[in-house]
Amino acid sequence: MLHTNMALHSGRACSRQYLLHLAHDNVDFRLPEIKALLSLRNQSFDTSETFIEKSPFWQLNGLSEDDIRSVMSRTVCGKSAFELWGHGRTTDELKRSLLAYPAESMAPYLQQNSTYKINVYTFNKTLEFKDRISKIDALDFLPFEGKVNLKDPDHIFCLLEDYGSDPNDIPDDPFHLYFGRWIADGQRELIRSHSVKKRHFIGNTSMDAGLSFIMANHAKVKADDLVYDPFVGTGSLLVACSHFGAYVCGTDIDYNTIHGIGKASRKDQKWRGPDENIRANLRQYGNESLYVDVMVSDASKAVWRKNPLFDCIVTDRMFLQTEGL
Ligand SMILES: C[S@@+](CC[C@H](N)C(=O)[O-])C[C@H]1O[C@@H](n2cnc3c(N)ncnc32)[C@H](O)[C@@H]1O
Repeated sequence: MLHTNMALHSGRACSRQYLLHLAHDNVDFRLPEIKALLSLRNQSFDTSETFIEKSPFWQLNGLSEDDIRSVMSRTVCGKSAFELWGHGRTTDELKRSLLAYPAESMAPYLQQNSTYKINVYTFNKTLEFKDRISKIDALDFLPFEGKVNLKDPDHIFCLLEDYGSDPNDIPDDPFHLYFGRWIADGQRELIRSHSVKKRHFIGNTSMDAGLSFIMANHAKVKADDLVYDPFVGTGSLLVACSHFGAYVCGTDIDYNTIHGIGKASRKDQKWRGPDENIRANLRQYGNESLYVDVMVSDASKAVWRKNPLFDCIVTDRMFLQTEGL
């Protein structure tokens, strides 16, 4: 069967499809993030008629594996990306789709001298171990020739099943199934490593780490850009932008925040310590060399002579104070 399909596919270039598995938070920010990251490579995300923005799985067409790796090297909304080998609404449809995938595209990853493992990921359903194993066993029609290695495989494959988004109405069978070769994970780890809970200098309105990175991605901040935050606060957005290699600066109307003095925001601490400031926040993540400066200034009053001075302005402003009010 696979052989027949190989013949069917030979003679025409097969454009690869990729599958993006997205985190189910900040749902409205996911599409602008992925579009912005693709545009950094002069690529666009062509959403088809069947595209469902709220779905945890998006199919991407017309892109290269390098495009996908580039997106995954920055995305906070994307969890993992796969080269999509097949998909369908039922197990039979998935099987037909997989058997139709060009054998020559699969072959490099199924060699006798390579090792592999298959993961099963289910969205909105938890499967018992034995059910996972039987789902993996059911894929035995694929011509895997290498040995299984669960700890350090050369190639990782994944069966992903979508059971919808209603936790109160989980169907027996998935609405959609996908199978693909894992390519890369996104940067969800940044949410933990840059959590404001472990941040040196924080304030009452310090921006959440995940959102800060998403904003830096939306703004397409890149290495050597000069980024300005006019409502800089404790500099969470500067932390995120400097992570992507930008030089950063900011202003804030609040003297104490800019100078890192005054009352601390932590429960167990009364006053800010001697080095609680934005520069120290960048130092914490190894990016002090990208710190330009911060100063006290009312953003409602123009102070910059040259316009545009900055490559990018990234900011979040909840309340605008003005001097004298
Ligand atoms: C939502 S906070 C920004 C928080 C910041 N992103 C962080 O992570 O700490 C808004 C900031 O705007 C500042 N602000 C309010 N009005 C301002 C003004 N007219 N000019 C400059 N800064 C102002 C406040 O002092 C506050 O620090």
